[in-house]
Amino acid sequence: MYQSKIAGLGSYVPENVVTNDDLSKIMDTNDAWIQERTGIKERRHIKKGDGNSTAIMGVKAAKIALERSKINKDDIDLIIFATLSPDYYFPGCGVQVQEMLDIHTCPALDVRNQCSGFIYALSVGDQFIKTGMYKNILVIGSENHSGGLDFTTRGRSVSVIFGDGAGAAVLTRSDHNGQGILSTHLHSEGKHALELSLKGPSTMHWVPEIIEENPQGDDIPYYPYMNGQYVFKHAIQRFSEVILEGLKENGLDLEDIDMLIPHQANLRISQFIQQKLKLGNENVYNNIQKYGNTTAASIPIALTEAWEEGKIKEGDIVVLAAFGSGFTWGSAVIRW
Ligand code: ACO
Repeated sequence: MYQSKIAGLGSYVPENVVTNDDLSKIMDTNDAWIQERTGIKERRHIKKGDGNSTAIMGVKAAKIALERSKINKDDIDLIIFATLSPDYYFPGCGVQVQEMLDIHTCPALDVRNQCSGFIYALSVGDQFIKTGMYKNILVIGSENHSGGLDFTTRGRSVSVIFGDGAGAAVLTRSDHNGQGILSTHLHSEGKHALELSLKGPSTMHWVPEIIEENPQGDDIPYYPYMNGQYVFKHAIQRFSEVILEGLKENGLDLEDIDMLIPHQANLRISQFIQQKLKLGNENVYNNIQKYGNTTAASIPIALTEAWEEGKIKEGDIVVLAAFGSGFTWGSAVIRW
């Protein structure tokens, strides 16, 4: 059986910085509330006319990852695209990337696992490399949240949290035994599905029905709903469990973690996990302060930045972990 490793990383965020103070001009919120509850200081939003979309940001991140990997785009065997905010209802963003990168008829698939999307996508890619079916796989997480959030006071508990951006990794067959993805761990529990969800437009909630069912517009199913405290409670439990599961599988201990990259859900969630697992500040990477929660893009953006800052070195044990809507959660243990 083969092993996969990350050969190149890249990220892209739109130029348009939206601070908490900017948000307080369009809704009843303030910098102190947002920072205290989430740690977020600012986020990036696509601006009308800046030429970005979920797929396009994914391509920008992918080009950087490809260049760094030194793998030619024509040698990519599969594209896996994780997003909850695709450009179109169908088809997915993966085929758009295939076309924009002009990778001749290579297969492309989309993963819809929200905040856990990148871990799921990485795990799928890892399996294809392990079996020997593919050698080089482009894995992308990208989100355009700003186009679909309620930026009125009604939606403030959700809309202040999320930001736009993309991250990408090129997975390739590892030449060195023991270097690369050691294991991935995936879970879901669908009974919590609607606690963090966006109901429509969908086949159950087409726009005309939404308008008909909500003449007053008080329950708006085309904006995300989040039961914040419920999510918080489940997130801190599942994050910890799935990190420990990954370590145990590989005979590792918490002290062996050189870098934990948690999905950037909320700084309070990351800090809670760090304290619970007794990890040092130098062993946990957070950048939600700058970008907000970019769901499927948050791990590849954070991983790219941690690597760019020289915080991940060859031989390090890097753990990626995510929890999100579904509920779904997962982890990946990597020897860099
Ligand atoms: N600005 C100012 N006031 C606000 C805002 C805002 N942006 N949002 C809500 N409030 C108000 C509410 O209206 C409420 O006011 P009231 O007491 O007068 O009714 C008060 O603040 C408390 O509201 P809650 O919704 O109870 O706020 P809570 O303390 O639970 O914080 C939060 C909300 C930050 C979402 C919290 O529940 C949380 O951290 N949850 C974790 C979920 C999370 O972070 N998810 C991230 C995305 S999911 C994922 O990635 C896994």
